[in-house]
Amino acid sequence: MKILVIGSGGREHTLVWKIAQSPRVKKIYCAPGNAGIADLATCLPIKSGDINKLIEFAKKEKIDLTVVGPEDPLCKGIVDLFEKQGLKIFGANQRAVEIEASKSFAKYLLNKYGINTAAGETFTSYKKAENYIRKTGAPVVVKADGLAAGKGVIVCETVSKAIDALKLIMKKRSFGDAGDKVVVEECLTGEEASFLAFTDGKNLLPLPSSQDHKAIYDNDRGPNTGGMGAYSSAPIIDRYMHKKIMEEIMIPTIQAMANEGRPYKGVLYAGLMIDKDKVKVLEFNARFGDPETQPLLMRMKNDIVPIMEATIEGTLDKCKLEIDDRAAVCVVMASKGYPGSYKKGMPVSGLKDVKKMKDVVVFHAGTDKKGKTIVTNGGRVLGVTALGDSIKKAISRAYLSVSRITWDGVYYRKDIGQKALKRIELSAKVEEKASGLQGQI
Ligand code: AMP
Ligand code: GLY
Repeated sequence: MKILVIGSGGREHTLVWKIAQSPRVKKIYCAPGNAGIADLATCLPIKSGDINKLIEFAKKEKIDLTVVGPEDPLCKGIVDLFEKQGLKIFGANQRAVEIEASKSFAKYLLNKYGINTAAGETFTSYKKAENYIRKTGAPVVVKADGLAAGKGVIVCETVSKAIDALKLIMKKRSFGDAGDKVVVEECLTGEEASFLAFTDGKNLLPLPSSQDHKAIYDNDRGPNTGGMGAYSSAPIIDRYMHKKIMEEIMIPTIQAMANEGRPYKGVLYAGLMIDKDKVKVLEFNARFGDPETQPLLMRMKNDIVPIMEATIEGTLDKCKLEIDDRAAVCVVMASKGYPGSYKKGMPVSGLKDVKKMKDVVVFHAGTDKKGKTIVTNGGRVLGVTALGDSIKKAISRAYLSVSRITWDGVYYRKDIGQKALKRIELSAKVEEKASGLQGQI
């Protein structure tokens, strides 16, 4: 088979790495790709949003399957346009992708079908939104309706900050048309987790749980980024919570989308807030998460190509995922200054050394090649991902690898996975206490 992967980040390197392991695949192309992807695929000078050129290429090269990484081409309707040309493509179509592209649509869907989420309302009028904020008070969350490169959600501690956020979105139009509407909602507390599943519109095949680290600094401080690290599994999602998420969120959402005439095919990503035994939806993404995909696909043992084909053909009921029992941790190495401005073109050292390490893969995001040297070319540069018999061991292995890689102005969080460790320690203590109590009885 000939496969075309669209995108250029760590998620796409992981997809290419996984697809390259399929015995059915003879050739992989990636548009536009990065320096790490170039080791496994032929990178094309076509932007991920240039759908006409992508179609032209897929037809000319007789591509058997196209896999879409980022949300932008999905929102532009790449799946519909490829299918119209008789080209096979993995991803959500334009009507289904609304679940990510419009926060007001997601809210409407969740409320209509009684799926748990933060209480909130959608506004097209600035004045009405302002009155609502004054009435409900703070803390409160103000969200631009459309895609805003992960910056359109503002969690506000005070009413005045919420009004500033509203002005930024609706008056200053900082996120352009994404600010035509806003969703104002209750601020949820608890622990966040990501839950991803393949779905063909009727059947769901869940991947293990995972957790992202969105803030730039340790202890979840500072501005949000695309994600500074991830691990899988997330100990907060035990068997009971997994079942609850499937029954109360994932299955009803797929049914709701079908009911709305928007059957959903692809990967559905639910961003969740978990508070004790309660779980609520923060958002949906209509694609693989970045960096969650890195640990998730390190753990997935199946050939991913038949799973993607079954997703497209509607036969996921015949598939079963085989998952490595070990934990996986991804530490993102970034350029100093990210998510603000940063320098590019810094030579990266230590990659060869880490390549020899067992159960470690360095996924590239913003990298380029100058001669024989890998140089930085973005905010998030690498996703160093390791497997381990326990989350503790996976963390140690990932950080040992990170310590061997460097460049001028490298930055990474030092606490990836610590939340998982704390939760495991806490549950061990609770169990110890409970068994002590049983002994007393
Ligand atoms: P979203 O793009 O909707 O996932 O939002 C980005 C981040 O904003 C989430 O990962 C949360 O950290 C935060 N967030 C979004 N909605 C809420 C909410 N209702 N309550 C608290 N935090 C939220
Ligand atoms: N890791 C968050 C995202 O992919 O949107």
